[in-house]
This record gives sequence, C-alpha cells and structure tokens, in this order.
Amino acid sequence: MKNIDWSTLGFHYTEPDYIVRAACHDGVWEEPYATKDKYLHLHVSATCLQYGQEAFEGLKAFRGVDGKIRIFRWRENARRMARSAEGLYMTPVPEELFGKAIYLALEKNIDFLPPYGTGATLYFRPLLIGTTPRLGVGPGRDFEFIVIPSPIGPYYPGKFHCTTFIVNRHVDRAAPFGTGHFKVGGNYASSFRATEPAHAQGMDCLFLDAKYHRYIDECSAANFIGIKEQDGQIEYLTPRSSAILPSITNNSLMTLARDKGYKVTRRHIRLEELAEMQEAAACGTACVISPIDKVIDAEKDKTYSFGKEPGPVLTDLYHALKDIQYGRAEDKHHWCEVIEK
Ligand code: PLP
Ligand code: COI
Repeated sequence: MKNIDWSTLGFHYTEPDYIVRAACHDGVWEEPYATKDKYLHLHVSATCLQYGQEAFEGLKAFRGVDGKIRIFRWRENARRMARSAEGLYMTPVPEELFGKAIYLALEKNIDFLPPYGTGATLYFRPLLIGTTPRLGVGPGRDFEFIVIPSPIGPYYPGKFHCTTFIVNRHVDRAAPFGTGHFKVGGNYASSFRATEPAHAQGMDCLFLDAKYHRYIDECSAANFIGIKEQDGQIEYLTPRSSAILPSITNNSLMTLARDKGYKVTRRHIRLEELAEMQEAAACGTACVISPIDKVIDAEKDKTYSFGKEPGPVLTDLYHALKDIQYGRAEDKHHWCEVIEK
C-alpha cells in the first residue's frame, strides 16, 4: 500500500503508477495495455485539440467493510460514454473493452486503493480523444481511450457538509438541443466563466435552463435533488431537461428513494419552487450527495434557505447509497461488481 495520508485527500489528482491505453483506427479497437508513461505523443492537429472531439467519464472503486473491492455500476459509465462518443462522431469504446481497461487499471494500481474507513476511494477517469490530424472542420477516424486512476477524497471539503449555490443567468452551461446530456469536455470549459467566480466567493453555480432561465438545470457539475414533504408523503424531485447529464448517482438515489416509499418525480422545476422544498442537494459520483444550505438569487435579491445542517431525508439516502458501495448493506439492485481480493 502507498504511503498516502488517505484521510486528508481531497478531489485532487494523485499520480498513479500506471494508466491504461487503447487505440482505435478506422473503427478497429486494439487491446488495452498498461503504461507508466503519462504523456501522449499527439499530433498538434488532432481533432481533440482542434475541435474538442473528447468525452470522459468518472467512476469509483471502494474497499469494503469486508475487505472486498467493489466497482460501482461501471457498465452504466461505459454506456454513457458510448452515447457521448456517438454524440461527437467518435467510435464508441466497446463495453467489454471499457471494463477490461478499468480492471487492468485497478490491478496495476492496487496499492492506490484507499483502505476502508478513510473516506477516500479510487476514482477512474476514462477519457476518449480524437487523434486524427485534421484542419478541415469535421470528425477524425482515430481515437485513443485512456483510463487514469487516482485516489481521491470528498469532492467538497469536509465529509458531508452543506454547499451554497448562486444562480447564474449570464452563462448557460448547455442549450436544450446542445451537448449537455453528453459528458464532453467542452461543457465544462464553457462553464468555467460561471463556476470560477462562484468558487472565488466560496460557493458553486446553479445553472438554469438556457431557453427561459426559469427552470433548474444543474448544480455546477452535478444533478439537482429537492425534497418536499407534505402530509407525511416525501417527494424526491429532480429536473427533467434535455440539457443535463443523466447522472448514475441520481438514478441510483431515485431507486433507493422509491424503495423507501418516497414519491419520485422528474419534471421541470421552477427556481421559485425552492421555497416549497425542505431539503436540496447536488448529486454525482464525486460528491455522492452534497446538501445545499442556501441558493442565492442575487439579481432578484432572494435567498432560499434549507438550514445549516444536512436534512434527514438526504442524509438517510446518502448513507443508504454509501452503505451499498462499502458492502455494509445488501446490494439488492446488483450495482457493485465485487472482487474477492
Ligand atoms: N452532471 C454533470 C454535469 C456531471 O459532470 C456529473 C458527473 O459525472 C453529474 C451530473 C453526475 O453524474 P454521475 O452521478 O454519473 O457521476
Ligand atoms: C462527479 O463525478 O460527480 C462530477 O461532478 C464530475 C466532475 C468531477 C467532472
């Protein structure tokens, strides 16, 4: 095991021993291989550099309470990456190759898998880039698939604490018929104009739908969840929008919420509806659930407050999902692939 202070790790890159690579030429994928070399010999006119032909993913492996390793829903990441690839005219990585590369990256970097109880996990960043040299505007025919592992701690500092979000009406993350539902680098670079000023104020950015600026789209790089409680019925609300990333965490939490008897609703959510919610949060692989204490709408001079501490419903869902990932609860939906090592 590496000599790393696991419990102080944040969501930052730690150099692994190996990355895994596989190339594709004219639709034919080569076998993935592990290499210590973290640099690419890339043509300056590669389509990823010239025209942003790039997609990525993010998933985690956990050391469980029983000492076994669990990889969470990697096939969902493989399928989402295939959709992103098709969206950007790239050759999709076959699901089995995607899995082989993740397993190889884990095996070659097993000393970077954080021990149970530290709050850290081994994060995998699969990356797909266009490598064909091209000046004419259009897609290439050559691609490189890379899996970069890195041990990480919580996305937001502190284990399970609240984040404040600020509404931005001057920068749109993604348009209704744009690429927001794909996980492609361009969506993130284009949102820095909103997220960096928010970070500088110790907050994160709440994006509204780009057409009307009326409905909640996403919480920075995470989906939004709101909790309403009325007459003893708990409702889990999350936006329906063509511009948001279909989050695997949100999908899992919706299933757990249904299991608990909550009403789960996906629909357009007006920003003002925040006033009717008792709890709100951002969710994604990196943070699992990050509760929101306040949403500030500075232009309208309005603040929606949810309390300084995480609410009971979201706290319960957070632990329910983490218990499955760490092998502390039954994995009824077969989300984890368990490795007996
Ligand atoms: N939304 C955006 C824009 C993201 O980048 C992510 C992270 O992957 C998510 C939502 C959450 O998705 P997931 O739960 O699959 O990690
Ligand atoms: C997530 O994994 O939850 C994310 O928000 C992805 C981001 C780190 C790019």
